[in-house]
Amino acid sequence: MKIGGVHYRSIALNDDGWSVRIFDQRKLPWDLVHVKLVDLEMAATAISEMWTRGAPMISATAAYGMCLALRGDASDENLEHAYKTLHATRPTAINLRWALDEMMAAVKDFQGDDRIAAAYKRAGEICDEDVEINRNIGLSGLPLLRKMSQDKGGKTLNILTHCNAGWLATVDYGTISSPIYMAHDAGIDLHVWVDETRPRNQGALLTAYELQQHGVPHTVIADNAGGHLMQQGEVDLCLVGTDRVTRNGDVCNKIGTYLKALAAKDNNVPFYIALPYPTIDYSMESGDLIPIEGRSAREVTHMTGLAEQSGKVEEFKITLSDASNPAFDITPARLVTGYITERGILAKVCDGTSDNPVFMDMPLEKGAA
Ligand code: MRU
Repeated sequence: MKIGGVHYRSIALNDDGWSVRIFDQRKLPWDLVHVKLVDLEMAATAISEMWTRGAPMISATAAYGMCLALRGDASDENLEHAYKTLHATRPTAINLRWALDEMMAAVKDFQGDDRIAAAYKRAGEICDEDVEINRNIGLSGLPLLRKMSQDKGGKTLNILTHCNAGWLATVDYGTISSPIYMAHDAGIDLHVWVDETRPRNQGALLTAYELQQHGVPHTVIADNAGGHLMQQGEVDLCLVGTDRVTRNGDVCNKIGTYLKALAAKDNNVPFYIALPYPTIDYSMESGDLIPIEGRSAREVTHMTGLAEQSGKVEEFKITLSDASNPAFDITPARLVTGYITERGILAKVCDGTSDNPVFMDMPLEKGAA
């Protein structure tokens, strides 16, 4: 990803070779600030308080959180403690458990300094793999966007997205943004409708910022505008990320995704999910079993933004009442057109009898895995 023309990853080791650098996403887009994570507690807080967020970035941060924990104490007891602490940070994204299990497997046969070295090695690999996965999601999705653009005679392809599944939510590229960037860079005329994504506004604050940095035409819309735009023929496809997909293809994503999928179905707008394989939970049959995170009511009762008069970022109370804040919802598989993965576009994540997926008939771009 590029910010001001400079290439960054969303997570990296500092020059000291052990502490971890992430962006403080709570401050974006107003301030570009790095945070240095130095121990397990900081890594866990960074995830639970959403200094960083998005399913793949949660997993990458947790992997390095394990490294930081072991650096302080590489014993079996502390390893167990670190796993439990990090696992408890956020309940919905399955990528978190996936990464923690990967880390456990990588370090269990080692002790002391060798265990710490094995942890850093695997965490680094998880980050590198995420970059490659997202690049390949782009190569899987590009032919779809190209075909849809051709079907429109090259007229502007309008894509609607919800929340942030861009490079800030991954180590690099992003899931939904990877095919969008590739299509834009290939000269395909496209435009993105960015749902603001209340209550935390990941769309207005983060996705819009990323698209702006890459020069992709986009417009922020109120969350309620999507259905109307679809009725007006202003949306050619919806493309969203996910925190967990179950065996039957149900999709858990940021609250509000389901309503967009319903509107898309009613208006014959294709509804695609972009995801890495670690987001598929083969152990869970259907979406109703996924734990839905309930977050603080304050995220609904208050909003943060730039106060134009003072020039400062300030928090405002926007209601006199109490609020409820379920953070995710489930989009049933029947509303999903396809799943854009690093291995190709799936019509179904499981064929019903085994873990084998059913692929859609769509070519991969040259260079894909
Ligand atoms: O609560 P968040 O901001 O972590 O929610 C993020 C999302 O819902 C994303 O769409 C999802 O994690 C996919 S990120 C590639």
